[in-house]
Amino acid sequence: MKIGILSSGGDCPGINATIRGVGKTAITHYGMEVVGIHGGFSGLLNKDTEVLDEHSLSGILNLGGTILGTSREKGFREMLTSVDQEKSQCILQAYQELGLDCLVCIGGNGTQKTTNLLSEHGLNVIGLPKTIDNDIWGTEITFGFDTAVNIATEAIDRLHSTASSHRRVMLVEVMGHKAGWIALYAGMAGGADVILVPELGFNPEVVNEAIRERARKGKQHSIVVVAEGVKLPDKRKATDFLMKEIEEATGIETRKTVLGYIQRGGNPSPFDRNLATQLGGYATELIANRQFGQMVCVKDGAISSIPLAEVAGKLKLVTPEHNLIIQGKRMGISFGV
Ligand code: F6P
Repeated sequence: MKIGILSSGGDCPGINATIRGVGKTAITHYGMEVVGIHGGFSGLLNKDTEVLDEHSLSGILNLGGTILGTSREKGFREMLTSVDQEKSQCILQAYQELGLDCLVCIGGNGTQKTTNLLSEHGLNVIGLPKTIDNDIWGTEITFGFDTAVNIATEAIDRLHSTASSHRRVMLVEVMGHKAGWIALYAGMAGGADVILVPELGFNPEVVNEAIRERARKGKQHSIVVVAEGVKLPDKRKATDFLMKEIEEATGIETRKTVLGYIQRGGNPSPFDRNLATQLGGYATELIANRQFGQMVCVKDGAISSIPLAEVAGKLKLVTPEHNLIIQGKRMGISFGV
C-alpha cells in the first residue's frame, strides 16, 4: 500500500513523533510506501510531496514543529463557491494521481472536519488528533497538550516569586480560544489563585473579591490564570480589561504576561512523544485492516479509534463538574463565577 501523510492547522509539539510513528511502522512492519505531503492540504493540491524513508524519518522524535510544514488551507469544503468546488475536485484528483491508498491527516478540529468530508467523497482517510488545546471531541487527550501544560506551569511557577517579591497580582494569559484545558491544568498545577476558562465565563467582582480576601489573610500577591478565549459580554478580551480592573478594585499593582506561541514551540514532552508514537502506530494498523474513515483516539486510557463522522464539527470543552474544578473550589481557588 502507498500512504500519504500531511499535517494541517496550527503546529504543536509531537507532530514529528507522529509522522515517525506512522512512517516507521508502515515501512518496517507493514512494508508500505510512505509519501510526505508538504504544507498541509495546499501541498496535496499542488502535489508537493517527498518520499519518506527510514533515513528521512530518523532524528525527528524530539523535534518540535513539523518536518512536513503546515498551513490553514482547508482544501476541501462543503461545495460553496465554484473556487471551492474546483479546489475540492483538485484534491480528489491529486489523491488519485499520487496513487495513494490512504491519506493520513494530522490536525485539529478543522482538519478532522475536512478529513471527514474527504471520507464522505470516497477517499480512504485516517485522522490523527493534534492540538495543544486538547479540545478535540472523541479523544480523552491530544498530543501537544502535556507539553503546553508543562511550559505554562513552569511559567506560572516562575511568576510566583516575582509576584510575591513585589506584592503584585500577576495575570497569566494562556492559549485556548474556546476551551480552557490549558488554563485549568496549568493553573491548578502552578498553584494559581484564580483560574478563568471560556466555558464558565467570569464575574469581575468575584475575581476582585478573591484577591481582596487573600490580601485580608495577609497574602499580598496573587496569580490569575486566564485562557485567551475568556471574553467580556461585549467580546473584549478579559485579560486586557482585568489588568486595570483588578488594580483599581483591589489597590494592588497588577501585571500581565502573555505566554503565546512559546506554548506551541519546541520539543515535545516524553509523555507526548510516547502518545504520538502510539497514535501513529495505531493509524497504520487501521490502514492495514482497511478500517478507513476513522480518527485514532484515546478512550478509557487506551489507544482506539472513532468514526470521523462522530467527531466532525464538535468540541470537547471543560465542564463545571470536572474534578480539578471541584477540587480547586474545595481548596479556595476561584473560578471567577
Ligand atoms: O494550536 C491552537 C492554538 O494555539 C490556539 O489556542 C491559538 O489561539 C491558535 O492556535 C492560534 O494559532 P494561529 O495564530 O497559528 O492561527
